[in-house]
Amino acid sequence: MSSIDRYAVIGHGLGHSRSPQIHALFAQSTGQPMQYGLIDVPAAGFAAAVRDFLAGGGRGLNVTVPHKEAALALATRLTPRARRAGAVNTLAHGAGGDATAVLGDNTDGAGLVRDITVNLGYALTGTRVLLLGAGGAARGVIAPLLEGGVGELKVHNRTPARAQRLAQEFADLGAIASGDGEAGGEYDLIINATSASLRGELPSVPPKACGPHTLCYDMAYGSSGTVFLHWARTAGAAGALMGLGMLVEQAAESFLLWRGVRPDTAPVLAALRT
Ligand code: ATR
Repeated sequence: MSSIDRYAVIGHGLGHSRSPQIHALFAQSTGQPMQYGLIDVPAAGFAAAVRDFLAGGGRGLNVTVPHKEAALALATRLTPRARRAGAVNTLAHGAGGDATAVLGDNTDGAGLVRDITVNLGYALTGTRVLLLGAGGAARGVIAPLLEGGVGELKVHNRTPARAQRLAQEFADLGAIASGDGEAGGEYDLIINATSASLRGELPSVPPKACGPHTLCYDMAYGSSGTVFLHWARTAGAAGALMGLGMLVEQAAESFLLWRGVRPDTAPVLAALRT
C-alpha cells in the first residue's frame, strides 16, 4: 500500500473530467502530499469499485454522474447538507477518527453559490431565479440558493411533476415554486441544471424569461460553451456563464473536507481557462 494519501473522482464517461488537474494544482499550492486519480465505472460497478478503493487505503472520492444517489446510500454518515440535498458528491474515509466511517457530503451547492457570489461578484439577495431541471444536479443546489438569499426560486422542468415534487420538498426553506411554462416575466438569473447540455440539447425556457438584465449560468461546461449559453447570448442576456467556476469551487470544498485546508481557487480557475 502506498504511504501517500490517495483520492479519485468516480463517475461514468469521465473522459472530459478536469478534477484530476484541479486537485493536482490544489495539492501543489497547499503542499499537501496526495495523489488524485480517476475511476470510470458504470452504475452496476459503483459499490464494488468504492469498496476496493477504500479497502486499498483510499482516503476520499469525488462522485459524479451517474453515482450521486448511490453514494448517498453507501455513506455510513451524512453531513446535513448532503442529507438535505438527497445526493452525495464527496466521500471521506475515516472521518472523525472512525477508521470505518465513510462520510458523505455534498459540496455542489456551496460551489455554485461561491462561484456566483465571490468569483462573479453577483449578489443573490432578493433575486428572482429560474432553475431549469429537477434531477440530482438541481436538487443539490436548491437549499444553498435559498439560504444564500434568493428572493424567489422557480423550478421549471420538462417533466413538470418532478419540479412540483422538488418545490414541495424544499418549501420550508423559502419562496420556491414550480413553474409549468406560465409566463413568469424576466428573471434576474437563469441556472441550467438539466443534463441537456451534455447531449448538445437546449432545454425549454419559459417565454420572456431572459431579458437584458438576466444572467444565464450553465452548470455544465464545455470547451466551446454550451447550447444553452449560445441561446442566452442570442436572447440578449446580460451575461452567459459556464460552470467551470462551480467545478473548481466544489472541488475546493471537498479538498477542505479531506485535508482541512482551503486552497486558493483563483489561480486554478485561471489555469483551466487558458
Ligand atoms: P442529473 O443528476 O444530471 O440532474 P437526472 O437526475 O437524470 O441527472 O436529471 C436530468 C435533468 O435534466 C432532468 O430534469 C431532465 O428532465 P426530465 O425530468 O424531464 O427528464 C432534464 N433534461 C435532460 N435532457 C433534457 C432536455 N433535452 N430538455 C430539457 N430537460 C432535459
